[in-house]
Amino acid sequence: MITRIPTGIPGLDSLMQGGFIEGSINLITGRTGTSKSILCSQFLNYGATKLNQKGLYITSEETTGNIVRSMKQFGWDFDNLEKKGMIKILEVQPFEAKIVISKITEAIEAMKLQRLVIDSVSMFEYTLEDQSRIRKFLYTLFKRLREMNILTIVTSEIPEEVNARLSQFGAVEFLVDTVIKLQYMELADTRRSLMIRKMRMTNHSPNIHPFEITKTGVNILSI
Ligand SMILES: Nc1ncnc2c1ncn2[C@@H]1O[C@H](COP(=O)(O)OP(=O)(O)O)[C@@H](O)[C@H]1O
Ligand SMILES: [Mg+2]
Repeated sequence: MITRIPTGIPGLDSLMQGGFIEGSINLITGRTGTSKSILCSQFLNYGATKLNQKGLYITSEETTGNIVRSMKQFGWDFDNLEKKGMIKILEVQPFEAKIVISKITEAIEAMKLQRLVIDSVSMFEYTLEDQSRIRKFLYTLFKRLREMNILTIVTSEIPEEVNARLSQFGAVEFLVDTVIKLQYMELADTRRSLMIRKMRMTNHSPNIHPFEITKTGVNILSI
């Protein structure tokens, strides 16, 4: 039987038979400013406040202070959740790829975490540079996460000039269970949209779904 865990993003779970698959690794990809980090935080906040699931936010790009500040806008109190031990934010250096894997593993085991966000893997792609090292790093990391059965979102950045690909080096999308692609169309009526590009073992929506960012976070609109 396949167990689904709700992401808590309004309008998203019903597009994928109820949520992410237990213990799966799910990629959210898109260009800069497409709401990847907001979605990640919303996922952790929902887990911590509604499902009593502890979460870890790994950031390779932003400071803890900035994450906490931006999430306050949506009413997500990461300061307080961190005090209660429900959320932990960990800043990592992308050039210490090996150490990162052990840091994540240790935190998951020590805190008995159930949700993990890695925002983003693109920095690792840039610092590891060649394809085979990137694949090896991601493969090792994801294998460890699968063994620990932790529900994971990883993000990756699609460079502005790249049209056809889902990530910078085209490695991460093969190794994950789900690929959700976010878009920002400068000239369209509904500027922000989301598409489930792949999801293993799931009869997911094949459509492009517009969404908005409201005072309470991302909300997927019905079409
Ligand atoms: N309070 C807010 N209300 C509406 N939109 C917001 C708010 N805060 C940020 N945004 C939008 O979200 C974007 C940033 O989202 P973010 O998750 O950081 O993007 P990404 O991680 O994909 O680069 C901003 O460029 C802005 O358009
Ligand atoms: Mg971001």
